[in-house]
Amino acid sequence: MSAPLPYVLAIYGSPRRSGNSATLLGECLRGVATWTNNVEKVFLRDLTISPCLEIYACAKTGRCAIRDDFDLLAPKLEQADVVLLASPIMFYAVSAHTKALMDRCQSFWVKRYWLKEPINPDKLHRKGVFISVGATRGKRLFDGAILSARYFFDALDIEMAATLCFGGLDAAGDVLQHPEYLQQAYDLGVSLRDVVMKRKGAGFD
Ligand SMILES: Cc1cc2nc3c(=O)[nH]c(=O)nc-3n(C[C@H](O)[C@H](O)[C@H](O)COP(=O)(O)O)c2cc1C
Repeated sequence: MSAPLPYVLAIYGSPRRSGNSATLLGECLRGVATWTNNVEKVFLRDLTISPCLEIYACAKTGRCAIRDDFDLLAPKLEQADVVLLASPIMFYAVSAHTKALMDRCQSFWVKRYWLKEPINPDKLHRKGVFISVGATRGKRLFDGAILSARYFFDALDIEMAATLCFGGLDAAGDVLQHPEYLQQAYDLGVSLRDVVMKRKGAGFD
């Protein structure tokens, strides 16, 4: 019996459903579609996810005590072979939607580092990608968001395999004026196949 195709979770973190980061993520998924159809899309703007309330019930149970739509997303984050996260830059950080999700993943961080429990013992070499856009072109525009993304993925025991960040994009359709950016996003999606293939025990073809 052949192994199931890798499961790719795509998280849209912009308030704009069809904005620049969403377009790039969509292009990346077109590339991903060349090697798996086991893809799930989640639009954070459609979910209700409270910020972390620092209750730290997770320190006892390994699970967040707040009951909201994070409950829908948490198992997907545990199961995904690849997580693609897209967020625009807002005040030199990720969007509030994205940050609320990241902060709720403190429960995974606690599970991993305080309780010393694995996030997913069956999948040890999971990969993450962070896609971002901003209006300006400052040299350090993406620094904060990339760090946040790196440690978000780390809380999930996911290695950040790539980032794709473009400045100079403001209005919703701006990225469409840059076919080379769209091509890079598509190519990244295609290339992830090799990244996933190199995972120990990833036997698909
Ligand atoms: C609340 C808010 C804060 C923003 N802060 C920044 C910023 O700090 N730096 C920047 O370059 N662009 C900033 N922008 C512009 C967005 O990053 C830009 O419009 C981006 O293309 C939006 O991506 P989206 O279409 O995927 O939503 C901000 C936009 C909003 C709405």
